[in-house]
Amino acid sequence: MDGVVASGSGDSGLANALAETLGWNHLDLETRRFPDTEGYVRVPNDCLDPIRSGPVALVSTTFPDSAILETLFLLDAIRDVRSGEMSSLKGGEVKESDVGPGVFLVIPYYGYSRQDKRFMAGEAISAKFLARTFASHCDGIVVLDIHAPEAMENMEVPVELVSAMPEIAEHLRKNVRPDFVLSPDKGAIDRASSVAKAIDVPFSYLEKKRIDAHTIEHTPKDLDVEGQVVAIVDDMISTGGTICRASDALRRQGAKEVHAACTHGLFTGGAIHRLGNHVDGVHSTDSLPNPRANVSAAEALSRGVKRLIERMSSEIVIH
Ligand code: R5P
Repeated sequence: MDGVVASGSGDSGLANALAETLGWNHLDLETRRFPDTEGYVRVPNDCLDPIRSGPVALVSTTFPDSAILETLFLLDAIRDVRSGEMSSLKGGEVKESDVGPGVFLVIPYYGYSRQDKRFMAGEAISAKFLARTFASHCDGIVVLDIHAPEAMENMEVPVELVSAMPEIAEHLRKNVRPDFVLSPDKGAIDRASSVAKAIDVPFSYLEKKRIDAHTIEHTPKDLDVEGQVVAIVDDMISTGGTICRASDALRRQGAKEVHAACTHGLFTGGAIHRLGNHVDGVHSTDSLPNPRANVSAAEALSRGVKRLIERMSSEIVIH
């Protein structure tokens, strides 16, 4: 079933690559900012028919905050175009039929995913609130390597959680040849162990305690890494603190080379420089544009879009 991949001001390179992987066309939707910084979005005239003629995969991250609003505005504009909703159009209404469901939100990096529960009374569960808000504006959601899958439970539309770990494993196998894979905390065990299994090397994990946003502590653990090349695998690297502390532990135990790999390279506040002092290589997907992106997220995202299409094929109509 042929559709289109659409994107706004986010990374059009990744949207393009997804379109290529699916064999679909890519549409650049119009986005700009007013002088007071408010956003404006529009489905341009030449995109109206393609948006109405088959399924639409809108690639949009939810980071930084301005991207959340843009994502919602784009979903609203796409839905209106598909439903033929043109009321209050200046210059007169245009009558179009409703082409039905088939709008999928593809989120390469899900901002706020770490606020997946109430850590203290009175907190908003931001990850869940955002998920419900997006679900009410589209027909299905694909999310890449979400920090806590629980955030996407019980949504009113189908959700496909996909992972770039197969591609990260392949990249590490070819370019790093690790002897050992380490998860820097319990939360990354599933992801990191899948990489170890794909490369067929031993695996272990550390137990981490977060003191504050910039400080973490690992419980000491004996790791059999003397003279070995080790890859630390996590879902995201933000300040780099987690990776740097894990790398120090590995070096103390005789690791010969340490590499860091993640899906989401946020690299905030001098993280690249900090990592440069602690690891021999940093590897990331392009879920967010970043200077260490050397693995494409397009394949993983395409798996999710294909699965959504399969699940909804009886409801989507090609016009
Ligand atoms: C948290 O549990 C995540 O999986 C990452 O380990 C964490 O967000 C990395 O943050 P940072 O790079 O700031 O240590």
